[in-house]
Amino acid sequence: MERRQFLKNSGIAGAGFVFSGTKAWANYADARIEVLLDEPKGEISPNIYGQFTEHIGGVIYDGVWVGEKSKIPNRYGIRSQLLDLMKQIHVPIIRWPGGCFADSYDWKDGIGPASKRPRRTNFWEGDHDAIRLYEKGPQIFEPNEFGTNEFVRFCKLSGAQPYLAANLRSLPALDFDQWVEYCNSPAGSTTLAEMRANDGFPEPFNVRYWGVGNESWGCGGNFTPEEYASEFRRFTTWIPKYGIDLQLIGSGPNGNDIDWTHRFFEQLYSDHAYHNASFTGWSVHHYASDLSRGKTKDWVSSKGDALQFDAVDWYELLRESNRIEQIIHDQWAVMGQYDTQHRVKLVVDEYGPWYREGTELDPTHIFGQQVTVRDALATALTLDTFNRNPDKVSMATCAQLINNLNALFLAHEDRFFATPNFHIFAMYAAHQGGQALRTEFSASDVQYLRDGESARFWGLNGSASRKGQVVTLTIVNPDLSKTTETQIALRGSRVIRASGSVLAASDMHAHNTFDQPNAVMPANLAVTMSDQLLNVSIPAASVTKLDVVLG
Ligand code: AHR
Repeated sequence: MERRQFLKNSGIAGAGFVFSGTKAWANYADARIEVLLDEPKGEISPNIYGQFTEHIGGVIYDGVWVGEKSKIPNRYGIRSQLLDLMKQIHVPIIRWPGGCFADSYDWKDGIGPASKRPRRTNFWEGDHDAIRLYEKGPQIFEPNEFGTNEFVRFCKLSGAQPYLAANLRSLPALDFDQWVEYCNSPAGSTTLAEMRANDGFPEPFNVRYWGVGNESWGCGGNFTPEEYASEFRRFTTWIPKYGIDLQLIGSGPNGNDIDWTHRFFEQLYSDHAYHNASFTGWSVHHYASDLSRGKTKDWVSSKGDALQFDAVDWYELLRESNRIEQIIHDQWAVMGQYDTQHRVKLVVDEYGPWYREGTELDPTHIFGQQVTVRDALATALTLDTFNRNPDKVSMATCAQLINNLNALFLAHEDRFFATPNFHIFAMYAAHQGGQALRTEFSASDVQYLRDGESARFWGLNGSASRKGQVVTLTIVNPDLSKTTETQIALRGSRVIRASGSVLAASDMHAHNTFDQPNAVMPANLAVTMSDQLLNVSIPAASVTKLDVVLG
């Protein structure tokens, strides 16, 4: 099939792009990928591979924190198996303590001797999901066993940097300043530094990343954008620095709420322009939650099920997840109208599918849900989108690390396993710090019937990056039934060798459990090479990673 005809049939918007050396492409290929080595797009920040942990349900208590006296193997109270696997995937940054919890949290409750720390009512006690909890454990009455010291230790042990979310709704700005002082003031310098030393940490934590409120349009205060902008000014006008290059992240929109971003930036930059070099991040939250196919906008009833779903739900979930691309472009365009130098980048610090309750592994796991191969594809296509936009997205944290929405791990008491999402992060870790490369995908759209109407979704997409002589190419095939015979060209250098791995499952509902922890995991994928083209059979419903060594 000719290239022009091929694109016409596929419905791909590939205008202006011409394959070079077309004679080399084989006729039998269903899809073609061209990696343009001479067109770097910028460095992929390792920080887009971050994780989010909140004091909600089973994330901290049961997930991360088992306690120093536990029989469950732990280091300083932190689950050892979790630490080991986090190191494997090079988690660069962890966000904490929320989420909505952050704006009800007093950091001073979580320092000092554990036995003296107060118990407080957790933000989530009134949530619909919490109502099923008959025993009011740490999910409802926060024991504060896990506080700033424990969190920073967790970061150190897992090799990550801390990203703290400050309370803007229910504490004054001075508390924010003093939390920074507790974390960062030099040994012996302040009373708070002495308190930190008494807790066993004389040296400063040097925390660079600080969120200024969370979802300030909702649980973080129900502010208007103008009100939030004025709070943001107040909270960020003076913060002690101690020579640290602080990075402040503002509470951005719900999904693609353009109005929130417009009005915040307008307020911040118009009257008396805001000059603060530390304001470098604008957070975005995008949950793929609405699987109602347009039937309702109700937050609860529009959700689908994590395990019971049909083929249309499969594509709907991927389509909802894929909205992140548009969000990034739209938000970036709005911000650029005010911040013309684009000093402020996007920080997607909550993302993932969100299903209705019912698949949590324990009743205490508020928002806990199972993670199938469908979610692995959603996560992979999201990471690919970040990789393709390295100039715009500086950081991202997946919601959430363990026992929650789009978890990499599920655990209860002494049982623990990695979900398919963990394997995606393992496969994609090679992109961290790589130079993103423009990559063109040409494949027929997937076509399917959605409530009697014909619907489409892209047939193949992904991202590529280069580190030295090694190119990493990741590819998502959303098609539930078609193995896609794919040819890949790397323009601009000779290929010496290539190897592949793939995460796929014949059942779209496949997931790991305590009894079958390895039901979904990557396998090797054969890659052949002919005339400098790579040939690979990409299985249906899969995520592929290729490692290509250049000459
Ligand atoms: O991740 C769960 C919750 O979702 C977070 O606490 C909140 O920020 C968001 O609405």
